[in-house]
Order: sequence, then C-alpha cells, then structure tokens
Amino acid sequence: MKFFIDTANLAQIKEAKDLGILDGVTTNPSLMAKEGIVGTENVMAHYKAICEIVGKGDVSAEVISTDFDGMIAEGKVLAAINPNIVVKVPMIKDGIKAISWFTAKGIRTNCTLVFSAGQAILAAKAGATYLSPFVGRLDDISWDGMDLIAQIAHIYQTQNYKTEILAASVRNPLHIVKSAECGAHVVTCPLDAILGLLNHPLTDIGLAKFLADHKKANG
Ligand code: E4P
Repeated sequence: MKFFIDTANLAQIKEAKDLGILDGVTTNPSLMAKEGIVGTENVMAHYKAICEIVGKGDVSAEVISTDFDGMIAEGKVLAAINPNIVVKVPMIKDGIKAISWFTAKGIRTNCTLVFSAGQAILAAKAGATYLSPFVGRLDDISWDGMDLIAQIAHIYQTQNYKTEILAASVRNPLHIVKSAECGAHVVTCPLDAILGLLNHPLTDIGLAKFLADHKKANG
C-alpha cells in the first residue's frame, strides 16, 4: 500500500519525505486555504514546490470548476505544472465526463468525494487513475467507512478495474491499518496519523530496558 500525505504544508511534506516512506501528496481547496495559499499564481507555485519536495511521487491538485469546460481548462493547466500532477476531480456528472476526457488524453485523475460503491463503479468506468472514498467523513455520520473500502476493493478485483483505491479522509493510525487490511492501494492521511503508527508502549518499555541493561553491563 502506498502512503500519501494529505496536506499542503511544505514542512510536513518534507518531514514525511525524510522518513523515506512517502509515495505522494493529496491536497484539496480547504487544505490550500489552510496554508494561506490564494490566487492562481501562488497556487501554481505551491504545487510546483510540493512536486519538487516529493520527487517521483504523485501530487493530486484539485479543480475548482464544477462544469465540464472549466474542469478541462483547469486540469490542463494543472497537468502542465509537472508530470507527477494528478488532476483531482469531484464525483459529479460533469466530473465523470471530465475524467473520461482526461483519460482519453493520457492525463491522470483522482476522483474525489466518493461515498458509495455506485460512484466507485462509475469512476472506474470513466478510467480514473485513483478513486478517493472518504472514510472519516462516513464514520462522522455513523456509517462504516472501512466497509466501503472493502466493498469497492471486492468489486474492483471482481471486475478487474485498474483504478487504484486511495483511502481518503483517513484520520488515525487504525484507519491506516484497516485500509491496508481491506485492500486499499493507497492511503492518504495527515502526518500525525502516519507518526501514530510508530507508537507502542511495549516498544518504549523494551527500549528503556535494553538501554538500562547495556548501561549496567558497560558502566
Ligand atoms: C482527500 O483527498 C481529502 O483531501 C481528504 O482526505 C479529506 O479529509 P477530511 O475529511 O479529514 O477533511
């Protein structure tokens, strides 16, 4: 399973990259706004900076338009920033049309705001490179986000769809573990969730004991 970081914060992207486990980045308009990145020129420069940090990994850049022509125009500009840019398109009717168009032109896409298996089938048929089911936002309304990942994984395997399942809105270490278990190809999450995977009290206790024994024996 690939690890993407879900942020537009350059310091956090760099920290994840330095861990040696980063495969890519996802952003969205809320995450860009959170970093204070406004205006087309700044947004483009920020995506360029993200791509430079990430190196070979994919970077999802989301369109703001909700009509076909607008999405195509924006997507072309975004895709021209760097070969690793993946155009992120919302799961709406014009979005599916745009994903089909981008696919035909060889431009890679990430279909976002996915909350059902039906939407997942449609995105795969349109040729989306990645599909982003939002696990956490489903959990927020008392649905089981992981059930959806498992259901889509089963459908994609059965139907031999090539679209990769990118578990999104992943908020904690357990979400990451469950995504791997349910067959997600990629997980995208905040840095905290990735770092949370490190934690186990027995690791801390064990390390303290090893170091104490070493000190006792070696003075
Ligand atoms: C997906 O690509 C989105 O950027 C993101 O995962 C949404 O997460 P949230 O529900 O925590 O905002």
